[in-house]
Amino acid sequence: MVEWNRKDLLGLEELSKDEILFILNTAESFREVSTRPIKKVPALRGKTVVNFFFEPSTRTRASFELAAKRLSADIINISVNSSAMVKGETLKDTARNIEAMKVDIIVMRHSSPGAPHMLARSVKSSVINAGDGSHEHPTQALLDIFTIREKKKKLEGLNVSIIGDIAHSRVARSNIWGLKKLGANVTVCAPSTLMPPGIEKLGVRTTYKLKEAIEGADVLNILRMQIERQSENMFPTIREYAIEYGIDSEKLKYAKKDVLIMHPGPINRGIELTPDVADGPYSVILDQVTNGVAVRMAVLYLISGRPESDESTD
Ligand code: CP
Repeated sequence: MVEWNRKDLLGLEELSKDEILFILNTAESFREVSTRPIKKVPALRGKTVVNFFFEPSTRTRASFELAAKRLSADIINISVNSSAMVKGETLKDTARNIEAMKVDIIVMRHSSPGAPHMLARSVKSSVINAGDGSHEHPTQALLDIFTIREKKKKLEGLNVSIIGDIAHSRVARSNIWGLKKLGANVTVCAPSTLMPPGIEKLGVRTTYKLKEAIEGADVLNILRMQIERQSENMFPTIREYAIEYGIDSEKLKYAKKDVLIMHPGPINRGIELTPDVADGPYSVILDQVTNGVAVRMAVLYLISGRPESDESTD
């Protein structure tokens, strides 16, 4: 039986197949909690979680907050603009001061790759990476993989195409690490300026042609154009990107009849996806969001070191 011995969750690169499956299976047992009239279990009673976000977020931040509250943990939110960091305090000093208040888990989003890793080395509290620059977003990939497994009943041998701004995407990187470990075939599709050199070393098929990525795919995971991370124009115009790489119902004619349409959000409607596809019958985008709470409950529960506890989750 797999045990969870890690202090932190920083990325899927370092996790084994069994550790990933252990998180997914633990999330299965928490999914039902969110369907109850009283959405609460005592699993993390007495634990304190801090959401420490240096970049905007809707889904991840709310999802961690709900997950912590449904596990009966106490949670506070700190964002950089309302913290003493605007007065010049360093990240390390801020984190150490938070830790001095006896915090158990720090959930961190930061624009710099490696920032949560640095924090994890500096504090005794557990650290969960909620997205570090263009490096990793492990809980997003876990909820994506959880949703694929829920809908397709397997992961081994599935064809998953990740389409869009691969170069700037932490979601793509974490999905590739996780999906490859679980036996899926991964294709990445992007215009050449948004395809990072050497990405095929991660074991993925690459294509610049959208039709090739759509044909035969069981899942299309469409990424957001990260205009805020692009230092120069990576595509002549957004309109041309939408014509070449945006998914609309016309391009979906090349897709399998039971294809899943996924997107981590936030969606640029009319750029990566047309509204009829985003809200259409193949879309599982809101299922991803729902599953995110169960996955984050599982991660908080395992990180908090309670699986061996007598306290049941119901
Ligand atoms: N998918 C995701 O990370 O969304 P947020 O930026 O809203 O957290």
